[in-house]
Amino acid sequence: MIGRLNHIGIATPDVEKAAKTWQALYGATHAHAAFDMPEQGVRVKFIDVPNSQIELIEPLGENSPLDAFLARNPAGGQHHVCFEVEDILAARDDMQAKGARILGTGEPRIGAHGTPVIFVHPKDNGGVLVELMQTPQEKTQ
Ligand code: CO
Repeated sequence: MIGRLNHIGIATPDVEKAAKTWQALYGATHAHAAFDMPEQGVRVKFIDVPNSQIELIEPLGENSPLDAFLARNPAGGQHHVCFEVEDILAARDDMQAKGARILGTGEPRIGAHGTPVIFVHPKDNGGVLVELMQTPQEKTQ
């Protein structure tokens, strides 16, 4: 069962510049320090909003998974939405049983919040790239 919206992913050529835009236009001042995720080929900067987060992502290194997206959308754009799930493996198996494809190997990887994530193929999902993220507390209690 799908859980709460964790964040909205927005691809941009420059996370710091994008954060300034969100601050200037919307007063979104609760920005976290940017950090690199070399294994995923992205640089990430989170902005807190009252009921969720915005995840700004820019390409990092060669052959970033964002390269193709930014080639189509040079100024950036809305890239994915992320919902929390209690058990990532159960969610993965459920999605596959329903015929949805999981990007990559299908095995969860560690996402920007340090918990396992998977991505559901946008072609199985009305063109929307959906990230499912295991909530941190579920596996530690
Ligand atoms: Co994300």
